Parts: sequence; structure tokens; C-alpha cells
Amino acid sequence: MKLNRRDFMNLIPGSAAIAATYSWGQEIPTINTAGMSLNSEPNPAFKPDVELELVATETSAQLLPGPVSRLWQYRGRLIDGNPRAFSTLPGGQVPVIRVRNGQRIRVEFKNDLPEESIVHWHGLHIEQKMDGHPMYAIAGGERFIYEFEVNNRAGTYWFHPHPHERTGIQVYRGLVGLFIVEDDEEQNAGLPADEFELSWVLQDRQLNSDNQLVYATHHMQLMMGFTGDRIFVNGRPDLVEEVSATAYRVRLFNGSNSRFYKLAWNDDRPMTVIGSDGGLLESPLQKSYVMLAPAERIELWLNFGGEKIGTEHILQSQTFDAGTMMGMGGMRGGMGMGGMRGGMGMGRGMQMGGSNMANGAAFDVLKVRVVRPGDTAPPLPDRLSTITWPRLQDAVNQSTPRTIELQMGPGRLALNNRTFELMEVAADEIVKANSTEVWEFVNTTGQMSHPMHVHNIQFRVIERSRDSRYQSIHDTMWDGFIDEGWKDVVIVMPGERVKVLIRFIHHTGLYLYHCHILEHEDMGMMRNYLVEA
Ligand code: C2O
Ligand code: CU
Ligand code: CU
Repeated sequence: MKLNRRDFMNLIPGSAAIAATYSWGQEIPTINTAGMSLNSEPNPAFKPDVELELVATETSAQLLPGPVSRLWQYRGRLIDGNPRAFSTLPGGQVPVIRVRNGQRIRVEFKNDLPEESIVHWHGLHIEQKMDGHPMYAIAGGERFIYEFEVNNRAGTYWFHPHPHERTGIQVYRGLVGLFIVEDDEEQNAGLPADEFELSWVLQDRQLNSDNQLVYATHHMQLMMGFTGDRIFVNGRPDLVEEVSATAYRVRLFNGSNSRFYKLAWNDDRPMTVIGSDGGLLESPLQKSYVMLAPAERIELWLNFGGEKIGTEHILQSQTFDAGTMMGMGGMRGGMGMGGMRGGMGMGRGMQMGGSNMANGAAFDVLKVRVVRPGDTAPPLPDRLSTITWPRLQDAVNQSTPRTIELQMGPGRLALNNRTFELMEVAADEIVKANSTEVWEFVNTTGQMSHPMHVHNIQFRVIERSRDSRYQSIHDTMWDGFIDEGWKDVVIVMPGERVKVLIRFIHHTGLYLYHCHILEHEDMGMMRNYLVEA
């Protein structure tokens, strides 16, 4: 079913008008809405607590010694509200919007790029019109005014471009920001705050000899997902974070296009995880390592109390089995896949160009150095938050999950045999507002893992069924999942079936679900789903 873009664009948020915008079985041609400037003016009736300007623009930065690197980044400016509401991480490259649950925010987005773009607020419960669906992309020079009330528990959310087929390159060039939500429960949890709260945004990039970003050019590289050969944290290579000898709360966010991290400390101290995509866990978890796929977030509690000045810790990404393209679902026997690993130079532990930084390779992410004495660290709370989970028995399809099969074939990535069409939704992609459903992601793509993301909601991972054919791959990742907290992205390993429980909220309209390997998203491993009143 094709939907009429104009009707969706003019949709009154939250209204039941959606049901009238299409009729069953009827093909409505997508209309060309270019030049239709929706939401280019602030609504005078909307009284924001926080008002910002956010400009996507061409910039440059000194990433490495030598020539500056040309980037695309968000530049922000607080127009009105608490000065804490807008900042940038040290280094100046990653903007941070910080608001409280319940606050009303206006973001005047201006696209100063030489191509179209739009901002998506990843992880937020939000009206369709404010969600940054590619149908709302605006041309260079245009503005889109976001106005919404924050309606998420405290957590580390983020924002990024979502234009049709250009998300990967725009994020890679530097367009990412953090969207941190705070609330009372979190503030009463007794966690380190202010200067004892850090954020680490992990991205991999590849720079040429002029220090300019290199992006994937080969189709096969896009199919594998683009990986760089150098790690940048908050836009800086070889980051050394200087800390006091006390406790910290750290937000980690994987802003890479396709790289998975298997994070662990070099000295075998456990990773003390206190939060996931949708905020604090109920209680801390000790892990020997944590898997962090593109778009995933975790929060750590770190205690350097009592450590000597000069003590260093290295956060590493350990080796894991990222698979190869051999045995790609639907490609068996085709395309001479047997030769892929060696012949294309893209197998496990290798990538084009001969670098040793393919997904699954080991490398250092950053170093922490104790440089100052600190106050006695407050203890790690054993209770962090209370989560009211949706209940499985309330699901409308408890024993018949909505199945989403992840597929990969020659030159094609798909979900249930369909690739993305801007204004298309299938009969089995329609859900009811305020209902609870079980969705089951089934990975039949061969040896690759995919981080699956659903817009507008947070879900709970309720079941993982492993496939013994991929046991050796699974074993290298299995202990690193944080399924105990709210999630909006979930890693689905080769052959795995992952069930998630989703409570759809009151917002109606057209939203997206997709693989968050951005090359896969851009190649169509994405679909709309429709929330009906
Ligand atoms: Cu980070 Cu469509 O999302
Ligand atoms: Cu999203
Ligand atoms: Cu994927």
C-alpha cells in the first residue's frame, strides 16, 4: 500500500485523522512534495522551556596533525532556557542537548548542507511529524522547526540525520549529537554528577594522506558495512581522559556506521553497567565485556578511588567473530562466495586496503589516566531505578509474534522480502496505538549480526534463541549483551531469533524500523510501520 505523503506531512499530531489518509488496497501515487515547506515557522501557541538553534553545516577540524579535515557537523546555540540545555563535549565536535523529562523544547533546525537532510531524535517517544522521517527532509537553505514535549525517562538518547539513502555518509561526516534526558528518579539514584559525569562517543573513520575522510565506494564494502581504520572518541584520536581518583558515571555511545565494539578494561576489572539505551537499569550489572553495536548506549560506573596519580586504564575492544560474507543467506552457490574471504580481502580480521581494523579486530579505544586526588567515592548504589515493564500476557500476539526476517542476497538487503519504499507500508506492518506486541527478529543473512532498531518506542528483550550452526560466533559475543534494561536497538546474531516486547504508545502515524548498520539502512534494510488509532 502506498501512502499519500502530503496527508502524512500535514497530519495533526495525535489525531485520529490518520485512518482517513489511505484506503485499503488502493494505490495512491506518492506525490512530489518538493518545495512544500512544512513546519518552517514556529508555532506561537507553543511555549518552550528550552529553545535552540541547530545548524547542520560544513565545518573542519584538526583531527590529526597536518591538514584540517573537512567535516559536516551540528552547530548549536541556546536561544532561551537553562544554559545547561546546550553544550558540546570537550573538543567541540559533539553537541549535547540536555533536558528534563516533561520539558517542552523547540529546535530551529537549519540545513546548511549542499544536500537534503532532516533530524531524527533516536530513542524518543515522539509525534510522527517530529520524528525526522525521510519524508520530511528539507533542502539546503531550508528550516524545519521541531516543537515537542520530552516524554522519556532519564537516559542517553541521541540525534542524527535521516534523509533517504544518505544517512550513512552524513553521520560518517560528523553529524551526531547526544540528547540527554534527566528526571527526579535518576537524580535521586546517588550517581556521580556534574564534572564526574563523562560521555564517550565512539566512531571509526578512515582518513587519506590529506587527512580527508574516506568512505565506502565498493558495493561489497557497503554490504559488509563501512569500517574505518582509526578510532575517534568525541572526535579525537588517541583520547586520554584525565580523571580524579574518585567515582564517575560514564555514558558510552556507539556513533559508528557499522562497527561493533566488544568493550573491556585491559586490567580485567569488570565493566560495571548501570544503564542501557533507555536509561538506568534496576540494579548494576558486572560484566567481563560489553557488546556495543551502532546506535547502542550503555552507562558505566567507574571507581578510581584510592588510585595513585599516574595510574592508567585502557578501554579496549576485544576480538570477536564478525563473520564473513560466506554463507550469506540466499546467496549460496551464487557469486562465487567461497572465494570471498581470501579473494576479496574482506574476510574476518581484514578489510579492503589491508588494514587490520575490520569488525571483530582488537584495538585500544581510549586511555583513562588518574591525574588528581579525589574525594572518597560515593558507593555504587545497589538500586538504581524501578522499571515498570510491559507484561507478556498483555501482548495481543503472545504466542504468534510478528516475525521480521532479516535477509541478505546478491546486492540486496531486505526485511521480510521487502526493501524500503518511502511511503509504503504493508498490511503486516500496521499496529495499534496503546497495544503491546511481541516482535521477533530472525536473522537469516548468513554470518553477519545486525543491530535492529524501532523508532518511537523502547522495548524489552524477552528471549534469544541461538542457532547451533553459529555457536562459535555466538560464543564470542553472548556474554556481552545488556538485555536487562530498556532498549531501542538489539543485536541479532547470525541464525538467532530475538523476541522483544513492545508497548506502542499513543502516537499514531508512520514510523521506521531498520538495521542500524547505516549502510544497510541506506540500502533498504528498513521499512515503515504504521501506528493506527
Ligand atoms: Cu538512529 Cu532510524 O534511527
Ligand atoms: Cu531511531
Ligand atoms: Cu544490517
